Amino acid sequence: MNIKSPKPPLEPFRIKSVERIKPVSRRERENVLKESGFNVFNIPAEKVLIDLLTDSGTSAMSDHQWAGLMVGDESYAGARSFYHLEAAVKNIFCFKHVIPAHQGRAAERILFGAMVKKGDYVPSNNHFDTTRANVEARGAAAVDLVIDEAYNPDSDYPFKGDMDTSRLKKFIEKKGTGKIPLAMLTITNNSGGGQPVSLRNIREVSQICKQHRIPLFFDACRFAENAYFIKKREKGYEGKSILDIAQEIFSYGQGATMSAKKDALVNIGGFVTLDDDKLAEKVKNLLILGEGFPTYGGLAGRDLEAIARGLEEVLEEDYLDYRVSQVAYLGQLLDQAGVPVLKPFGGHAIYLLADRFLPHIPRHQYPGWALTVALYRQAGIRTSEIGAIMFAKKDAKTGREIFPKLELVRLAIPRRVYTSAQIEYVAEAIIRLYENRDEVRGMRIVRESPQLRHFTIRMEEI
Ligand code: F0G
Repeated sequence: MNIKSPKPPLEPFRIKSVERIKPVSRRERENVLKESGFNVFNIPAEKVLIDLLTDSGTSAMSDHQWAGLMVGDESYAGARSFYHLEAAVKNIFCFKHVIPAHQGRAAERILFGAMVKKGDYVPSNNHFDTTRANVEARGAAAVDLVIDEAYNPDSDYPFKGDMDTSRLKKFIEKKGTGKIPLAMLTITNNSGGGQPVSLRNIREVSQICKQHRIPLFFDACRFAENAYFIKKREKGYEGKSILDIAQEIFSYGQGATMSAKKDALVNIGGFVTLDDDKLAEKVKNLLILGEGFPTYGGLAGRDLEAIARGLEEVLEEDYLDYRVSQVAYLGQLLDQAGVPVLKPFGGHAIYLLADRFLPHIPRHQYPGWALTVALYRQAGIRTSEIGAIMFAKKDAKTGREIFPKLELVRLAIPRRVYTSAQIEYVAEAIIRLYENRDEVRGMRIVRESPQLRHFTIRMEEI
């Protein structure tokens, strides 16, 4: 491939252990698609060449983290690894209580279980699908109040994850504080394209929440990538360390949930961290009921150890430089070739604008989904749709689908996993598909479940 201007990032590591991947023949890929009901979530991972389904739980751990597994303390209560995790989390988040859970959505479930009741509202910039589902499972409404720029894929606004503070104020006035048990900010905003939230916005949201005594919580899965963008894009933060910025972010809130499967560079884990003693007690009681004792929360001691070490590594700036520029490298290769991509490039993923990529496929034939199928068929690349199948709502009266504003396909880049040559392979395959886009067909639903349907839906090509 003749790559002119964008330069691949220099990896700040060398490879000590490798995992074999094998190409799958075109015929086999066709069969796999049919058997999977044209749903890439149903495809065995061995039948995938480059897996960009998610950046969650797919990181390569460092030798230091692997070594930590060996010294993980497997005591039921008060394990040494828990105290290490607690110290690592407190160093960054600075809240009093650290409550481990087996992953992000478990942390959400126990937090909302303790805070949210039927008829409540939980505003956020954008809820991720699991936080939305967990809020809704409590009989409450999850409300997205992200700024309008987030819905304009061509705007190069640097902090498209920001919450619209005037809408937040109006929303609080309309609903009354008694109905809003907490507000959230997702950093970075995954559903909106991996876009960061600025410290200025965090400060403003925090002030509004404080005025109305609404606790502010962060969905902090990708906090380090968010802090990195603040350092690069927000005035006054150029000279600060990632740790300083992260500490400032969390100083404006009352707590956070985190899926450690992202910026803690591990394959499993999560936690809730917060200040309020009474709330912590309630959360811990729910934890004991469903996850485990509060010093392990459904995880092995070795997992706690790996998270603690990952949280230290993710703050390293050469790592974040490489990480964010590898993602941008893919974005630049595609953009230069005219492939429609969301801008600015996200922290953990590049998002294809599926409705522009496949203009001949109408929204009700799910162009995003069709693109995930086509990418697997063409090149063995697995991606995920973040569009109508994931987020469409059904009109209560007519049953007709109301589509989300953006129809995206996410190319999520696992951390420290793929080389620049593999990233170039992905770019080349997508560019080739774009040149032959007329051949891609729309999709129709065969069978679906009422909640989080994308995980299990079965589809067919039209
Ligand atoms: N919040 C955000 C912003 C997320 O991106 C995710 C997971 C979660 C919460 C839930 O965490 O998976 O550990 O239970 N995102 C993954 C993804 C699944 O592919 O983006 P979890």
